[in-house]
This record gives sequence, C-alpha cells and structure tokens, in this order.
Amino acid sequence: MRDRCATRRTAPETAPPPGIRKPLPPRLFAVHGTNAETRWEALRGEDYLTPDGLFFVRNHTATPLIDAAAWRLTLWGDALRGGPVAFTYRDLLGMPAETVTAFIECAGNGRRLYGEQQNQEVSGTPWRLGAVGVARWRGVRLAALLDRAGMSDRAVALMPRGLDADYVEAGENLGRVRRPLPVAKALDDVLVAYEMNGRPLPPDHGHPARLVVPGWVGAASIKWLGDVEVSAEPLESPWSTRLYRMHGPGHPPGGGPPLTRMGVKSAFELPWPARLEAGREHLLRGRSWSGGGRVVRAEVSDDEGVSWRPARLLGDRHPHGWVRWTFPWTPREAGNLHLLVRAADETGAVQPGHAAYNVFGYGFDAVVRHPVLVT
Ligand code: MTE
Repeated sequence: MRDRCATRRTAPETAPPPGIRKPLPPRLFAVHGTNAETRWEALRGEDYLTPDGLFFVRNHTATPLIDAAAWRLTLWGDALRGGPVAFTYRDLLGMPAETVTAFIECAGNGRRLYGEQQNQEVSGTPWRLGAVGVARWRGVRLAALLDRAGMSDRAVALMPRGLDADYVEAGENLGRVRRPLPVAKALDDVLVAYEMNGRPLPPDHGHPARLVVPGWVGAASIKWLGDVEVSAEPLESPWSTRLYRMHGPGHPPGGGPPLTRMGVKSAFELPWPARLEAGREHLLRGRSWSGGGRVVRAEVSDDEGVSWRPARLLGDRHPHGWVRWTFPWTPREAGNLHLLVRAADETGAVQPGHAAYNVFGYGFDAVVRHPVLVT
C-alpha cells in the first residue's frame, strides 16, 4: 500500500522530526515521522489565524533552505506562446499583490478516526484533527503570472513542482513533489504566496513562495515552488494517479477522481481526551471549516447525537477559512462521555455520522466523538 499524505516509516510521536526547522514543543505538536500535527488544545485562546509557530507541517522529505535572492520561478511548456519565463522574488514583490485568508488541510486529516471511531484499518500518517491551519496569505495571482508568461488558449493543464528533494517511497523514486492543477482552478483563485500572516513565508511553509489553492486538499498547495509546466495535453504524476484518490470497496478500480475540495469538519479546542469538572459551567470553544464555502451552523451534542444545541458563531467567517464558536456546557455528573459537534456550510453540506471508507483514509468528514472524562 502506498502513501497518501504520509510516509512509510512511522516514528514514535516523541522522536525529533527530521527536516522540520521550527521548534516543535510537545505541548503544541504531535510528531508523526517527517510531519508535525497541531494540538487542538494549543489553539485555545488564539485568535482567528493559526500563528506560524503553531501551524502543522506536512513534509514528504525535509524543509529545504532556499535563498530568495537566487531563487527563480520558471513557467515553461508547450502551451506558452514563447519560451520559458523566469520570475525572481523581486519580480513577484513588484507585481500587484492579493491577500486571501484560507485553510491548508491535509487530505488525510482525521485519518486516525477511521480506526478509533469506525473500527476501519487505513494506512498513512495517523493525523487526528490537527493537520489544518488558517493563515492570511499574500502574494501574486497565478493567473497574473500565466498571463505575463503568455499562456495560450491551448493550455489544459499545469504541473507545479516543488524544490524539495525527490520523494522515495518503498524504494521507488517518485521524483519531486508535483501535482497537476486544472487551468480553470488556477485562473480562478490560486495564489503564489510569499507571505504568511504578514511576514515572509517561514522555511517550513514554503519559503520563498508556495501555491495556496483555496478549499482544496493541501497537497495541491505546492511549497518551495520552483517551476510550473503549462501544457496543451493533460498531465499526471503519482500525486494524481495513485495518491490523493479514494481507493477500495465502493470506489472505481484504480481509484476515484483526483481529490480536490475538502469536506466539512469541526474540532473542539480541547485535549484528547479532555478532563472537565462536573457541576460547573465550561465555555467550550472550537472551530468548523469547509472546502465548500462559509460555515453557517455548528451544533453540539453531549448525548451521542440524540439532541443538538446550537453553538454561538463568533466574528470572522472567511469563505475559505473557518468559523470559531463557543458553547457553554455544564456536565452534571462524573464519568466518561463524548462531546460531538457538527457543522453545515453555505452550500447545505452537513457533516455526516459516518465517513466514506477508503484504504488510504482520506476525507474523514464525519462528526467526531471527542472523549471527555468528567471528574
Ligand atoms: N509541497 C512540497 N514541495 N513538498 C511537500 O512535501 N506537502 C503537501 C503540500 N505541499 C508538500 C508540498 C501537503 S501533502 C500538504 S498537506 C501541505 O503542503 C502542507 O502545508 P504546510 O506544511 O505548510 O502545513
């Protein structure tokens, strides 16, 4: 079986991650191999945006250190009217800038819950719910770069590619991380970002520039962007033919279509499991998000989904970000129980009770049963 947002060697969660540059204190992160997951309880008290120091990291290999002054982004391929065009960092900074507030989320976020909650075995990085973060990204529209590079009407596919090392999986070299991007999405809202939360991108998140593909699986948002092929023919890579597709019973042979939009999800800003005192009110906090658009409702249940009460939605609701909410809750007696939260987005999509099984554990969008020990 092959990886999907994952590495084969699963190191113990306490091992230092090879190749991540920023500090990963255990109270903020759980480490899985080359990746680091944000702990949801660490988001309690944080504002709308995930600070860079708390943002999850998903690396196929290791974070490269790239000198922005020497870096070039090259657009090339048979659907450009002229030859290849290279942009420097200064070129990007000199072009009209745009800002988008958007989440980046691994397609396998919640993967561990297939096992913990649905008793289904899947393979890949065992993220719980912390492979997601929301940042304010600033940069240049990919559409503007394509325009400057002279993309012709013949273009049907793009292949953005990272500058990190080749990804070797089970002895097979899959080459540099790259995934085809449809021209329509590229022209719609994709950003080549050089800033995260008002500062130059940190190395772990793609310095000097990365793609931000709003609402789509994180794998589309190529970090350390080095080149983009602009092609008159459809393109593919292992990240579109094998990885990031739904495989298994109920899916077409060879897998479903390449994954694009993320589903609706919610999480409590609580430790897992949480410990809360009986007989007093706790102001529960959490966040809900969806690749389909703004979240319009979040509801909480403390009786395994028999009854639901609305959470209070707070402040900002960016269409590709998340919404924060609060819910005052007074547990009556000591014991073990689950807290559930389910959200709906503006398209009417609601979190289901059960996520669709697939062998690589992508797309876990079911209502999560958060374990709580009431003392
Ligand atoms: N881009 C490159 N070049 N190399 C990578 O390993 N990982 C992808 C994507 N872009 C990756 C990449 C995946 S699977 C995800 S989920 C996001 O980056 C994670 O972004 P983050 O590490 O900034 O949170």
